[in-house]
Amino acid sequence: MTTREENDLLTRSGPGTPGGELMRRYWQPVALTEELKDAPLQVKILGEDLVLFRDGTGKPGLIGLLCPHRCADLSYGRLEPEGIRCLYHGWLFDRQGHCLDQPAEPEGSTYKNEVKHTAYPCHEMGGVILTYMGPGEPPLVPKFHFLGATENNVFTTKVFHACNQLQANEGNFDPAHLSFLHALNPGGDGRKGVYLEMQSVMGKQTRPKIDTERTRFGLRIYAQRDAGDKKYLRLTNFVLPNMGFFAGDGGRSGPTSYSVHWHVPIDDESHWRYDFYYDSNEGVDRDRLNTKVNTEMGPGYRPERTRENRYLQNRAEMKRNTFSGMGIYFPSHDLFAVETPGPIHDRTREHLGASDVAIVQARRMLLNAIRDVQNGKEAPGVIRSENENVFNDLVVLAVMIDKEQDPKKYCAEIVQTQDFHALKV
Ligand code: FES
Ligand SMILES: [Fe+2]
Repeated sequence: MTTREENDLLTRSGPGTPGGELMRRYWQPVALTEELKDAPLQVKILGEDLVLFRDGTGKPGLIGLLCPHRCADLSYGRLEPEGIRCLYHGWLFDRQGHCLDQPAEPEGSTYKNEVKHTAYPCHEMGGVILTYMGPGEPPLVPKFHFLGATENNVFTTKVFHACNQLQANEGNFDPAHLSFLHALNPGGDGRKGVYLEMQSVMGKQTRPKIDTERTRFGLRIYAQRDAGDKKYLRLTNFVLPNMGFFAGDGGRSGPTSYSVHWHVPIDDESHWRYDFYYDSNEGVDRDRLNTKVNTEMGPGYRPERTRENRYLQNRAEMKRNTFSGMGIYFPSHDLFAVETPGPIHDRTREHLGASDVAIVQARRMLLNAIRDVQNGKEAPGVIRSENENVFNDLVVLAVMIDKEQDPKKYCAEIVQTQDFHALKV
């Protein structure tokens, strides 16, 4: 059982909190590339109010929202080649937080050299702007395949969640819920062929056999379901500290084709889920994915179905087609599941079962990681050398395999042979 103290450790990410200290040891997305155009963007991440902007070089800078002079909001500031200039008295700041100009101070004053504003390094790739908010030398930006993909191979967006990030990420490595929350009459969402087959296996086999395996980056979760003379294997990954890798978008899977949810705290009671649809085999169909991700979405990356409107649940639909009565779009179902426990899920009230084994292990892993950082150790999975910065062992699967096949051996073979293309569903 999770204690209250553990729940706090797992869910608090503001400055100075142990959980926040862990989060700050990893690069995190702070905005989508498409959001940062010719105006500064006010952002909040890990409880910190910041402004994101591009200077004359086009590179992103991330500095404290309030001007260190008399605290006016810098997101209203003027963009200049060297940085951003405060509207109130004209102080100018560069991407590193240096104060370059104080035009109301006496001629020749060196006071500007004494003012250093909060500033975090940024790195732009994969359709997002990443930042490192921790101490010391930033680790290498992880070369996850989806982050290094060209524009043709990854589609990136985000969705607002009115809840703590962890309870939402836990849904990504919770294989049992697929048989319930997302269940619908097979074919009820228009899927055909192998997807339809998997859908009906999911509906019939409500007790997947779940195994886990520790990896250098987190946890591999194997879920097996009987499927006649075969078995249906789903391999998902929890990646420290706040990511889920799984076969999404109609079951696309394999090391070269998968989906990622990256759950980044705005504060402890809300977060952005950054979504990556990655396919380096066939490339991504942007028009199709645009239509898909805009399903049931309002302006500002905010979903239409919310707790306030009871996720537009339709009881007549529950009798006809879907288990949830919340349409056929899976992400909407997930919103219901992860937001309704409350803004910060109180884990002391849970009654965990055998199907929650991966959730329990992921929490344990996070608590150990938090303690490691408290004890001055390196956070697990942080990349410091190019040798480690290869993720061919980050395998995602949704496949039918032979009944007698051992899934761990099957995965190990994939990692070794890297015969990725043969595995495409
Ligand atoms: S408050 Fe920004 S320059 Fe004075
Ligand atoms: Fe789900």
